[in-house]
Amino acid sequence: MSSIAVIGAAGQLGTDLVRVLGSRALPVGRPAVDMSVAGSAEAWLDEHRPSAVINCTAYNLVDQAEKEPEAAIAVNGLAPRRMALWCAAANVPLVHISTDYVFGGAETPTRPLSEDDCPAPVSAYGTSKLVGEQFVRAICPRSLVVRTCGLYGLRPTRGKGNFVETMLRLSAERDELRVVNDQRCTPTCTWGLAEVVVELLDRQAWGLYHATDEGDCTWYEFTKEIVQLAARTTRVIPIESTELKQPAKRPTYSVLSSAKMQSVLGRLLPDWRTALAAHLDRRGIE
Ligand SMILES: NC(=O)c1ccc[n+]([C@@H]2O[C@H](COP(=O)([O-])OP(=O)(O)OC[C@H]3O[C@@H](n4cnc5c(N)ncnc54)[C@H](OP(=O)(O)O)[C@@H]3O)[C@@H](O)[C@H]2O)c1
Repeated sequence: MSSIAVIGAAGQLGTDLVRVLGSRALPVGRPAVDMSVAGSAEAWLDEHRPSAVINCTAYNLVDQAEKEPEAAIAVNGLAPRRMALWCAAANVPLVHISTDYVFGGAETPTRPLSEDDCPAPVSAYGTSKLVGEQFVRAICPRSLVVRTCGLYGLRPTRGKGNFVETMLRLSAERDELRVVNDQRCTPTCTWGLAEVVVELLDRQAWGLYHATDEGDCTWYEFTKEIVQLAARTTRVIPIESTELKQPAKRPTYSVLSSAKMQSVLGRLLPDWRTALAAHLDRRGIE
């Protein structure tokens, strides 16, 4: 595939996708393309005619989405629908990125979740992402939807950062960190995730895939590892989610199984501890 449009190229995953794709990447983002405006991406795609499209844009303000679900649906649900219509009409493959937050409802089992498990979002953000992935799968015959979890990378999300950056900053400022210990999932580094997304695309492995780093932890356990690897002395205290009084509910269990991806690629992503250590090496700790 000669030119692969990466929409949202300046985001965490977008940055690593552009790195992995090298000369095949056709990076774009705001202001050239605004996914909340109908016709904006289509006009750019008409002009550039890529051979594949990867959408890594998202409205990802999880708590804010409870107050403005229409804004989340516009970017996470309706824009992917338009991308799917454009790609289907142009006979171009579409890669779309989704989230473990499509799970979490009362019926969600507490064992690694497969692509066959029934989604049950508990937040406006999760619902908007589920709408987007379903439009893509229903409309675009050559689509690849990749659900992932807790992303962090070398280029943190603009205006929001990422969990690793936040904990590195806070652990330098405070003696004690209080972190939730009742949400179990698998934080995932965009460095390796970008590689498997491109491998799945190159193999034309259309369909729905889970792709995260291996193993699982709570955010408390993840923070303990960050603090230890950064050689900080900050105490990390486990708390319950209710203590944070966040507007949006989070899944208490959203560990994804990457077995289907492994069956296609013959490999898994690294364990979350290994991926985190490699990330901190690349990033450097002052
Ligand atoms: N972050 C996570 O923890 C996480 C977890 C699971 C799944 N995911 C999914 O993974 C994907 C990539 O996430 P990420 O962490 O790389 O996101 P990110 O760092 O927030 O990057 C998102 C990109 O989308 C762009 N964007 C946002 N709204 C846009 C709009 N209306 N029009 C055009 N561009 C827009 C942003 O541009 P600006 O720089 O201009 O804002 C940014 O470049 C998303 O689909 C997300 O839902 C993320």
